Amino acid sequence: MQKRVVLVTGAARGLGAAIAARFHAAGYAVAIGDIAFDAAHALARDLSADGSSAFALNLDVTSKRAFESARDAILQRWGRIDALINNAGASKVVSVMEITAEQFDQVINVNLRSVLFGCQVFGQHFADAGAGRIVNIASLAGQNGGSATGAHYAAAKGGVITLTKVFARDLGAAGVTVNAISPGPMDLPIVHESVAADKLKAVIANIPAGRLGSADYVADVAVMLAAENAYFANGACWDVNGGLFMR
Ligand SMILES: NC(=O)c1ccc[n+]([C@@H]2O[C@H](COP(=O)([O-])OP(=O)(O)OC[C@H]3O[C@@H](n4cnc5c(N)ncnc54)[C@H](O)[C@@H]3O)[C@@H](O)[C@H]2O)c1
Repeated sequence: MQKRVVLVTGAARGLGAAIAARFHAAGYAVAIGDIAFDAAHALARDLSADGSSAFALNLDVTSKRAFESARDAILQRWGRIDALINNAGASKVVSVMEITAEQFDQVINVNLRSVLFGCQVFGQHFADAGAGRIVNIASLAGQNGGSATGAHYAAAKGGVITLTKVFARDLGAAGVTVNAISPGPMDLPIVHESVAADKLKAVIANIPAGRLGSADYVADVAVMLAAENAYFANGACWDVNGGLFMR
């Protein structure tokens, strides 16, 4: 494969689908990993009807073995991997005093354990190859504790920002960079599905930019961080939050 190759997790819909499309438009071959395989497959077909530059992978990010299988499947198909975008995530709003052990573990697994395993498996592969880019999708909630997303989700995303630094430090000398992006609320289906219309109005009124964020723009930031010449951007958290949180 002449093109650079990227794996985007949780790419069947929402931000992940936008990231997959932007990488594809930037000339990458794109592996679309998700537990929602049919939707991932449909997106792959949209991007590349013959499968030559996009294909879907059944990938559950809570499993290290699944990341290993994804790595092997991509190498078998295209012979190289240049970037991993850890985008898969999920949460249900529960008040902090009511979060059960099961809910806590489930949200931590999907949002944080996923990033640990993705960085372990692909970070090792990239380090052995002497080059690679990892971008972890964190969240504003991981920086300010969140508002509408749940404490388990906010804690997991704070952990994503910390893991980003640890892997960046450990893999930096091997030519691998690891960065996080922390988006604020974006104009995406999940936001409209999970936040009541009147509450959403109040959320938007509180954003200095006066509108929800663009998933395409966040995707462009991911493409920029995955570029071959991005070697000097490492261990950082890139805030894209409309001015909601400044530091
Ligand atoms: N939507 C926002 O405003 C917003 C803001 C900040 C951060 N984020 C983060 O952006 C990322 C994408 O969010 P979104 O809004 O597109 O969410 P979404 O719920 O619309 O999409 C998430 C995708 O992840 C997949 N997924 C869920 N569990 C999985 C698993 N175990 N293995 C593999 N795939 C799995 C889902 O099938 C889905 O395709 C998440 O990490 C989220 O926390 C979103």
